[in-house]
Amino acid sequence: MLVTLLLCASAVTGPTPPSVIPSYVPAGMSPMRIPKDNPLTPARIELGRHLFYDPMLSATGEISCATCHQQRYAFADGRVRPRSSRPGARSTMPLFNLAWRERFFWDGRAGTLEAAVADAFKSELDAAPPAAARRIAAARPYAARFKAAFGDGVVTP
Ligand code: HEC
Repeated sequence: MLVTLLLCASAVTGPTPPSVIPSYVPAGMSPMRIPKDNPLTPARIELGRHLFYDPMLSATGEISCATCHQQRYAFADGRVRPRSSRPGARSTMPLFNLAWRERFFWDGRAGTLEAAVADAFKSELDAAPPAAARRIAAARPYAARFKAAFGDGVVTP
Protein backbone atom coordinates (compact mmCIF):
# COMPACT_ATOMS: atom_id res chain seq x y z
CA MET A 1 0.00 0.00 0.00
CA LEU A 2 2.76 2.40 0.83
CA VAL A 3 3.83 2.44 -2.76
CA THR A 4 0.60 4.15 -3.71
CA LEU A 5 2.16 7.51 -3.14
CA LEU A 6 4.83 6.79 -5.64
CA LEU A 7 2.24 6.35 -8.28
CA CYS A 8 1.45 10.04 -8.22
CA ALA A 9 4.76 11.34 -7.06
CA SER A 10 7.08 11.40 -10.01
CA ALA A 11 7.49 10.79 -13.67
CA VAL A 12 9.48 7.73 -14.64
CA THR A 13 12.69 8.48 -16.49
CA GLY A 14 15.13 6.18 -18.25
CA PRO A 15 14.52 2.54 -19.06
CA THR A 16 11.67 0.88 -17.19
CA PRO A 17 13.06 -1.40 -14.47
CA PRO A 18 11.51 -4.82 -13.91
CA SER A 19 8.90 -5.04 -11.15
CA VAL A 20 9.80 -6.64 -7.86
CA ILE A 21 7.19 -8.41 -5.80
CA PRO A 22 7.91 -7.75 -2.11
CA SER A 23 8.94 -10.85 -0.18
CA TYR A 24 6.07 -10.40 2.28
CA VAL A 25 3.51 -11.22 -0.41
CA PRO A 26 2.40 -14.80 0.31
CA ALA A 27 2.86 -17.36 -2.46
CA GLY A 28 -0.27 -18.21 -4.39
CA MET A 29 -1.80 -14.69 -4.41
CA SER A 30 -3.12 -13.56 -7.78
CA PRO A 31 -0.98 -10.97 -9.59
CA MET A 32 -0.86 -7.47 -8.11
CA ARG A 33 -2.42 -4.70 -10.19
CA ILE A 34 0.75 -2.73 -10.96
CA PRO A 35 0.70 -0.11 -13.76
CA LYS A 36 3.04 -1.14 -16.58
CA ASP A 37 4.55 2.35 -16.74
CA ASN A 38 5.32 2.47 -13.01
CA PRO A 39 6.68 -0.88 -11.84
CA LEU A 40 7.53 -1.61 -8.21
CA THR A 41 11.16 -1.42 -7.18
CA PRO A 42 12.68 -1.52 -3.68
CA ALA A 43 13.64 2.18 -3.96
CA ARG A 44 10.08 3.16 -4.89
CA ILE A 45 8.64 1.14 -2.03
CA GLU A 46 11.07 2.86 0.35
CA LEU A 47 10.20 6.32 -1.00
CA GLY A 48 6.48 5.57 -0.63
CA ARG A 49 7.01 4.56 2.98
CA HIS A 50 8.73 7.88 3.73
CA LEU A 51 6.02 9.91 2.02
CA PHE A 52 3.25 8.03 3.83
CA TYR A 53 4.63 9.13 7.20
CA ASP A 54 5.59 12.68 6.19
CA PRO A 55 3.29 15.52 7.38
CA MET A 56 4.97 17.79 4.85
CA LEU A 57 2.50 16.46 2.32
CA SER A 58 -0.43 18.18 4.02
CA ALA A 59 -1.45 21.80 3.52
CA THR A 60 -0.89 22.52 7.24
CA GLY A 61 2.31 20.50 7.54
CA GLU A 62 0.75 18.66 10.48
CA ILE A 63 -1.03 15.64 9.05
CA SER A 64 0.41 12.63 7.27
CA CYS A 65 -1.36 9.64 5.81
CA ALA A 66 -0.27 7.78 8.94
CA THR A 67 -2.11 10.22 11.21
CA CYS A 68 -5.30 8.44 10.23
CA HIS A 69 -3.95 5.19 8.81
CA GLN A 70 -2.03 3.77 11.79
CA GLN A 71 -0.32 0.42 11.52
CA ARG A 72 -1.49 -0.71 14.97
CA TYR A 73 -5.12 -0.40 13.82
CA ALA A 74 -4.65 -2.24 10.50
CA PHE A 75 -3.92 1.21 9.01
CA ALA A 76 -7.22 2.68 10.23
CA ASP A 77 -7.41 4.90 13.33
CA GLY A 78 -9.32 2.80 15.88
CA ARG A 79 -12.06 5.44 16.15
CA VAL A 80 -15.76 4.71 15.83
CA ARG A 81 -16.57 8.17 14.52
CA PRO A 82 -14.90 10.04 11.66
CA ARG A 83 -11.98 12.26 12.61
CA SER A 84 -13.37 15.05 10.53
CA SER A 85 -16.53 16.97 11.39
CA ARG A 86 -17.07 18.12 7.81
CA PRO A 87 -20.46 17.14 6.37
CA GLY A 88 -20.45 13.70 4.78
CA ALA A 89 -17.23 12.65 6.50
CA ARG A 90 -16.87 8.90 6.96
CA SER A 91 -14.73 6.84 9.29
CA THR A 92 -11.18 5.96 8.32
CA MET A 93 -10.81 2.78 6.30
CA PRO A 94 -8.13 0.19 7.09
CA LEU A 95 -5.58 -0.20 4.31
CA PHE A 96 -4.65 -3.72 3.27
CA ASN A 97 -4.25 -5.73 0.06
CA LEU A 98 -4.96 -2.61 -1.97
CA ALA A 99 -2.87 -3.85 -4.88
CA TRP A 100 -5.54 -6.50 -5.48
CA ARG A 101 -8.61 -4.24 -5.16
CA GLU A 102 -10.81 -2.98 -7.97
CA ARG A 103 -12.82 -0.26 -6.15
CA PHE A 104 -11.73 2.10 -3.39
CA PHE A 105 -13.48 4.05 -0.57
CA TRP A 106 -16.68 3.09 1.28
CA ASP A 107 -18.75 4.09 -1.75
CA GLY A 108 -16.36 2.57 -4.31
CA ARG A 109 -15.95 5.91 -6.08
CA ALA A 110 -12.33 5.35 -7.19
CA GLY A 111 -11.49 2.61 -9.69
CA THR A 112 -7.71 2.73 -9.38
CA LEU A 113 -5.26 3.14 -6.55
CA GLU A 114 -3.83 6.18 -8.31
CA ALA A 115 -7.27 7.85 -8.30
CA ALA A 116 -7.80 6.90 -4.65
CA VAL A 117 -4.50 8.50 -3.60
CA ALA A 118 -5.24 11.67 -5.57
CA ASP A 119 -8.62 11.81 -3.81
CA ALA A 120 -7.02 11.25 -0.37
CA PHE A 121 -4.60 14.10 -1.03
CA LYS A 122 -7.43 16.50 -1.71
CA SER A 123 -10.08 15.35 0.73
CA GLU A 124 -8.05 14.17 3.71
CA LEU A 125 -4.77 16.10 3.57
CA ASP A 126 -6.41 19.16 2.08
CA ALA A 127 -3.37 19.34 -0.18
CA ALA A 128 -2.95 20.22 -3.83
CA PRO A 129 -0.46 17.81 -5.44
CA PRO A 130 1.57 20.62 -7.11
CA ALA A 131 2.10 22.43 -3.79
CA ALA A 132 2.93 19.15 -2.02
CA ALA A 133 5.42 18.30 -4.78
CA ARG A 134 7.11 21.69 -4.33
CA ARG A 135 7.45 21.16 -0.57
CA ILE A 136 8.87 17.68 -1.05
CA ALA A 137 11.27 18.88 -3.77
CA ALA A 138 12.63 21.52 -1.41
CA ALA A 139 13.31 18.97 1.35
CA ARG A 140 16.90 17.79 1.10
CA PRO A 141 16.66 14.01 1.72
CA TYR A 142 14.04 13.56 -0.95
CA ALA A 143 16.29 14.45 -3.91
CA ALA A 144 18.39 11.32 -3.29
CA ARG A 145 15.32 9.19 -2.63
CA PHE A 146 13.64 10.31 -5.85
CA LYS A 147 16.88 9.79 -7.74
CA ALA A 148 17.15 6.22 -6.44
CA ALA A 149 13.51 5.57 -7.25
CA PHE A 150 13.07 7.28 -10.59
CA GLY A 151 16.51 8.01 -11.99
CA ASP A 152 16.54 11.74 -11.26
CA GLY A 153 15.73 13.97 -8.30
CA VAL A 154 12.83 15.68 -10.03
CA VAL A 155 9.56 15.67 -8.08
CA THR A 156 6.43 16.14 -10.15
CA PRO A 157 2.81 16.09 -8.95
C1 HEC B 1 -7.77 12.81 8.16
C2 HEC B 1 -7.72 11.35 8.03
C3 HEC B 1 -7.08 10.74 6.79
C4 HEC B 1 -5.86 11.02 6.25
C5 HEC B 1 -4.85 12.06 6.71
C6 HEC B 1 -5.71 10.14 5.12
N1 HEC B 1 -6.80 9.33 5.00
FE1 HEC B 1 -7.06 7.81 3.69
N2 HEC B 1 -8.96 7.56 4.32
C7 HEC B 1 -9.56 8.31 5.31
C8 HEC B 1 -10.99 8.07 5.28
C9 HEC B 1 -12.03 8.74 6.20
C10 HEC B 1 -11.23 7.15 4.25
C11 HEC B 1 -12.60 6.68 3.75
C12 HEC B 1 -13.15 7.87 2.93
C13 HEC B 1 -14.41 7.56 2.14
O1 HEC B 1 -14.75 6.40 1.91
O2 HEC B 1 -15.02 8.53 1.70
C14 HEC B 1 -9.93 6.84 3.67
C15 HEC B 1 -9.72 5.94 2.64
C16 HEC B 1 -8.50 5.73 2.02
C17 HEC B 1 -8.28 4.78 0.95
C18 HEC B 1 -9.29 3.80 0.36
C19 HEC B 1 -9.12 2.44 1.04
C20 HEC B 1 -10.04 1.37 0.51
O3 HEC B 1 -9.97 0.22 1.04
O4 HEC B 1 -10.86 1.60 -0.38
C21 HEC B 1 -6.97 4.91 0.56
C22 HEC B 1 -6.24 4.13 -0.53
C23 HEC B 1 -6.39 5.93 1.39
N3 HEC B 1 -7.35 6.40 2.28
C24 HEC B 1 -5.08 6.35 1.30
C25 HEC B 1 -4.59 7.47 1.95
C26 HEC B 1 -3.30 8.07 1.67
C27 HEC B 1 -2.28 7.50 0.66
C28 HEC B 1 -3.18 9.15 2.46
C29 HEC B 1 -2.08 10.17 2.47
C30 HEC B 1 -1.81 10.82 1.21
C31 HEC B 1 -4.40 9.21 3.27
N4 HEC B 1 -5.22 8.19 2.92
C32 HEC B 1 -4.62 10.14 4.27
C33 HEC B 1 -8.93 9.14 6.21
C34 HEC B 1 -7.68 9.68 6.01
